[in-house]
Amino acid sequence: MSKISAAITAVGAYVPEYVLTNQILETMVDTNDEWITSRTGIKERRILKDEGKGTSYLAIKAAQDLINKKGIDPKDIELVIVATATPDMKAASTASYTATEIGAVNAFSFDMDAACSSFLFGMSVAASYIESGRYKNVLLIGADKMSSIINYKDRATCIIFGDGAGAVLFEGNNEGLGLQDEYLRSDGTGRDFLQATYGGSSYKLTPEIMEQGGQYAFQEGRTVFKNAVSSMADAAQKVIERNNLTTDTVDWFAAHQANKRILDATGNRVGLAPEKVMMNIEKYGNTTSATLPLLINDYESKLKKGDNVIFAAFGGGFNWGSIYLKWAY
Ligand code: UT7
Repeated sequence: MSKISAAITAVGAYVPEYVLTNQILETMVDTNDEWITSRTGIKERRILKDEGKGTSYLAIKAAQDLINKKGIDPKDIELVIVATATPDMKAASTASYTATEIGAVNAFSFDMDAACSSFLFGMSVAASYIESGRYKNVLLIGADKMSSIINYKDRATCIIFGDGAGAVLFEGNNEGLGLQDEYLRSDGTGRDFLQATYGGSSYKLTPEIMEQGGQYAFQEGRTVFKNAVSSMADAAQKVIERNNLTTDTVDWFAAHQANKRILDATGNRVGLAPEKVMMNIEKYGNTTSATLPLLINDYESKLKKGDNVIFAAFGGGFNWGSIYLKWAY
């Protein structure tokens, strides 16, 4: 019997309607369109404004988009993973609520958090369940309502992040398509440079802390930038080399959309032609766990069966890595 590989067989996505443009941000903090565009490549991002709606709302919409496009019966889904850094609640997983709402009543479900690498690491987990033969399919959703942990008075973070969700279905493949290899790493010393500190078990969220904006995410942008470029390029190069690929035989580079300059520099270091570097950051900003599925959703019509796609991500923790996947349809 040939080995089962884990292939992506469907994609779906959702972004909220409200568009937060650079021009609107100019009225909120001391910034301008020229600075944001030249330093990040971002023109606008989507924000989920509706009171009481959280990450599950985005995840459910993305999953429903996939279900409708693929025409699958949600009752046939066996596992639902929600990759997110902004769950609806601290306890009661966002994935369980999402699974029930989409009608995946025969599935088990859980959340996964590795900050901006949540979806990349989720691909590894989803693929392992398929490769082991234990489950036939896994619905992996990357969803984040970043606006829930962003301080719209802090120009260093509020210009970057947006809300959104994307979903992929992993299924078994007998043609050798799907996930081929991965190189995933973590370094806990990196958390000093990118974190949302308060409200977890170490640091209590008090009214005084909230007054100082302690509930929000902060980052030391330059340090994160440098580490993101070197770590993603290093991981991607390792995966390319050990699979005997070349910059010619790599068809696409799908990397976490954190900053256009990070993407340009990483693609450059790896030696990839700019047209192979997928990019949609101008429309959505950094949506954390949602950037990779939103990216492949936008490029779905250009992807061809057998294409060699190199994924890469870097995020808070620090967590980073690269995955080599052969596109299956
Ligand atoms: O998903 C993973 C997590 N995040 C990332 O990967 C993000 C990584 N970092 C970055 O993308 C960039 O570091 C930023 C976009 C956050 C910042 O860009 P930068 O080129 O690293 O700028 P900087 O922080 O070095 O600041 C340069 C200048 C400073 O002014 P001075 O000190 O030179 O006078 C900042 O105060 O730009 C100023 N500045 C701004 N000016 C206008 C910082 N933010 C803004 C702003 N508008 N929004």
